[in-house]
Amino acid sequence: MSGLILALDVYDRDRALEIAESTADYLWAVKVNWPLIIGSGLKIITELKQITGLPVIADLKLADIPNTNRLIAGEVFGAGADYIIAHGFVGRDSVKAVMELGEAIIVVEMSHPGAEEFIQAATDRLIEMANELEPFGVIAPATRPERVSYIRSKLKPGIKVIAPGVGAQGGKAGEAIKAGADYVVVGRAIYESENPREAARRLSEEVEAWS
Ligand code: XMP
Repeated sequence: MSGLILALDVYDRDRALEIAESTADYLWAVKVNWPLIIGSGLKIITELKQITGLPVIADLKLADIPNTNRLIAGEVFGAGADYIIAHGFVGRDSVKAVMELGEAIIVVEMSHPGAEEFIQAATDRLIEMANELEPFGVIAPATRPERVSYIRSKLKPGIKVIAPGVGAQGGKAGEAIKAGADYVVVGRAIYESENPREAARRLSEEVEAWS
């Protein structure tokens, strides 16, 4: 098993299932985000689990009041999601509302350039929150391996580091793992590739080589 997570950001159900099935051998988990849920409905989570047998991460970046986070998380865990990604900046109560229903992954920093505007300034406090709440994992940017190292160094052992930003956003899978990520997230570099299975195979080899 490699630490590769497929970000399945397509709209179409049949295309999503085809890509997931063809790459599943090389994945640890499949991540769904709003594009696929909007395009194919929540039941896609159940179908992906059935077809791949892999964990499904719902990357909803929940950032609402506790009651709304709870209402959303209940349905999404009910559909079979194993993990939900939630923003921490909305506060402990909102994150706890998700964690009362299932496993959460907390965003402590993001991979895009705009992350330097606001969220990076809050990263230390978001790591403190994660250390206190002990979620399954946190999100750290593969586009900035030095930040992955920093976040790993401040985080309690046992909390996983999940790093998006590999491929289309410029990050390298091996560098993120070397910096301390447990898992890398790859979307376009797999699902837009001419041969998604081969792209996933190469990336999983790179991840394993550095793990
Ligand atoms: P690409 O196509 O860029 O897709 O490989 C990346 C996937 O990961 C999501 N993403 C993030 N999710 N924090 C997150 O929680 C981040 O910093 C972050 N950066 C990228 C993105 O939405 C897509 O699904």
